[in-house]
Amino acid sequence: MTADLFTFEAPARLTFGAGAVGKFPDLIAGFGRRALVVSDSGIAKAGILDRVLGFLRDAHVSSDAFTSVEPNPSVETVEAAHALYRKSDAEFVVAVGGGSSMDVAKVVAVLAAHGGGVRDYEGIGKVPGPVVPSVAIPTTAGTGSEVTVFAVITDRQRRFKMTIGSPFLVPQVAICDPELTISMPKPLTAATGMDALTHGIECFINTTPNPIAKALAMESIRLIGGALRTAYQRGSDLPARSTMLLGSTMAAMAFTRTRLGNVHAMSHPLGALFDVPHGVANAILLPYVMAWNLRSCLGTYPPIADAMGEEVDGMPPERASERAVEAVQRLSRDVGIPEHLREVGVTRDAIPALATDAMKSGNVLVNPRPTTYDDIVDLFEQAY
Ligand SMILES: [Fe+2]
Repeated sequence: MTADLFTFEAPARLTFGAGAVGKFPDLIAGFGRRALVVSDSGIAKAGILDRVLGFLRDAHVSSDAFTSVEPNPSVETVEAAHALYRKSDAEFVVAVGGGSSMDVAKVVAVLAAHGGGVRDYEGIGKVPGPVVPSVAIPTTAGTGSEVTVFAVITDRQRRFKMTIGSPFLVPQVAICDPELTISMPKPLTAATGMDALTHGIECFINTTPNPIAKALAMESIRLIGGALRTAYQRGSDLPARSTMLLGSTMAAMAFTRTRLGNVHAMSHPLGALFDVPHGVANAILLPYVMAWNLRSCLGTYPPIADAMGEEVDGMPPERASERAVEAVQRLSRDVGIPEHLREVGVTRDAIPALATDAMKSGNVLVNPRPTTYDDIVDLFEQAY
């Protein structure tokens, strides 16, 4: 058993299950009379936003909705949402959507409480104290932002995805209702699902000691490995959607304190420079980085292979570890993820710049195999 010091954060309240969103009015009691709802146009079109606005009306809470959140959301988007928060005299924030909406809402909650600009909070531990109450209602099963200490915001001036990390960013209330994830189209199901799997795997194999996180990570791999194909092929399958949402939320509870690894270090600049969707970037990179890490993961890959349904009993660790990489590769292919970065608009001449930005990420420091700039260049070349 570990003797290492570790900490663990989770939302004050997590409500999970089909129909959970119906509990929304009870869960916001005491948060205030005016709310800002942060979402995107797709969620508005799917009718999910209207349901949440209706719940707010029923609870006698007036609200304004900000629906201009884009993928890889920018500093300017956070500022615009914060301006509406101020104009509305809002007292709390509700995010309805994927990681982008939740991350924007989290930073709005920071600005509302402490003022200043988004860039003032870049890094870990820069938020000085509690923020305004926030509720996260995910509509994808991927990012897990509803339970994490992080928000990732793109600084378009620097073409850089910055991470803001603070225990004060964890939403007070997370409402995880798998029925809200059913309208996700196939490519989004695949990308977000593979992002969640990457969270589970990178957390499980990285060097940060945290036994609660590792246990959650392992279970998330088992859940996602068993359900992603079905959720992708039959989007209306509620048990598969539910398993995916549980897996993605657990994976995020796992990584929120351990950080991740080279895959996430490398995927952030791909989002900043080429707008590659976060989950797609991770899914392409994951098998390459896993193969490269293999010699450092002979203890952790065999249980991953087992959790992904591979028969590895009695196998030498090298072979069982290769099976883990193969299982991930197969799953990625089965859900239609491309195999190379060149297929998603990345250009080879950008690799040095991509590697420079990847090396700025704290995720590199916890990767199981020690990593240099040249290693990252090499990995980008392989994945290209
Ligand atoms: Fe991620």
